[in-house]
Amino acid sequence: MLLAAVGCGDSKSEGDATEDTSGGLIGISMPTDDQARWITDGENLTYQFERLGYTADMKVADGQPARQIQQIQSMIDAGAKALVISAVDGKSLSGVLAKAHEAKVKVVAYDRLIEGTADVDYFATFDGQRVGQLQANYLVDALELRSGGDPVTIELFAGSADDNNASVFYKGAMGVLKPFIDSGRLDVRSGQTAFTQVTTKGWSDEVARQRMSTILKEYYEDGNVDAVLSPYDGISRGVLQAIKAAGAKRPVITGQDAEIESVKLIASGQQDQTVFKDTRKLAELAASMVDAALKGDSPKVTDTTQFDNGVKIVPTALLEPVTVVKSNYEKVLVGSSYYSAQQVGLAS
Ligand code: GAL
Repeated sequence: MLLAAVGCGDSKSEGDATEDTSGGLIGISMPTDDQARWITDGENLTYQFERLGYTADMKVADGQPARQIQQIQSMIDAGAKALVISAVDGKSLSGVLAKAHEAKVKVVAYDRLIEGTADVDYFATFDGQRVGQLQANYLVDALELRSGGDPVTIELFAGSADDNNASVFYKGAMGVLKPFIDSGRLDVRSGQTAFTQVTTKGWSDEVARQRMSTILKEYYEDGNVDAVLSPYDGISRGVLQAIKAAGAKRPVITGQDAEIESVKLIASGQQDQTVFKDTRKLAELAASMVDAALKGDSPKVTDTTQFDNGVKIVPTALLEPVTVVKSNYEKVLVGSSYYSAQQVGLAS
């Protein structure tokens, strides 16, 4: 189901996978299977590496930093030449990555920045500030904030604080929304606007559902919240559950990842927007960076200034995210074979 969901079978059919695995072993460390994407990301990476003549070993850390460290250590012990890692906790990997570099293993951070260590070579990701801007721009347009008018209520959600992406997305969104909050056009009735007040541990839908439910009880007894900034589809669905349980009016709501469940909600008019990040392209990019590094070439990077991990600026290659709404989901997601028409409910 998950595999089919992102159409990685499709990307497979494009290549001429070779059985030559003489390139050596690559370790792929994914954070969790709680969100739909990570297993597929791992499968797409495996496919890309096999296509380039490597052997890949993918492990999933079940949302536990200690398990991820253990798994990475075992990949180093098994002789991996490179590691592609999406961290559970971006700040937890310094020790094990020092060992990776002692063993001359290349390290590429995948989607999420690895922080607090010099022992990360490259970063492959999407432009996260842009993700936040796309979400916020959607709200600004849908709520017609620029045209003046009465205050509109909004509540704000961010992702998991242990993932650097969470603050990047939030910063991008708040750069757009803050002037409207400052002018009073947007009213955050809970007053919760600081990043530390709006994070969602583990990007969990359940954590988001509970927070939304508490906010509704405490601040919206007399009415409905007009809009919700949500950084990720699972969080959006948790928020929508709380709204439904409270019998409140559905707010204008954003999301990210174009998860199949949320795409269906967009199609049926229950979620407004999501941000599509073509993870097939990210896997291809990360694999090409590893391949170049192992061959002694310089991987193509597009940013050498933004991604300061506290110890070094990590050379980064950025991909562009795309906003998806009811009017373009078919073209963007089905048109690119990311999903089939059947998967999004457009054909039987
Ligand atoms: C982030 C990622 C998002 C979303 C989220 C929850 O790091 O950039 O696209 O997947 O994790 O898994």
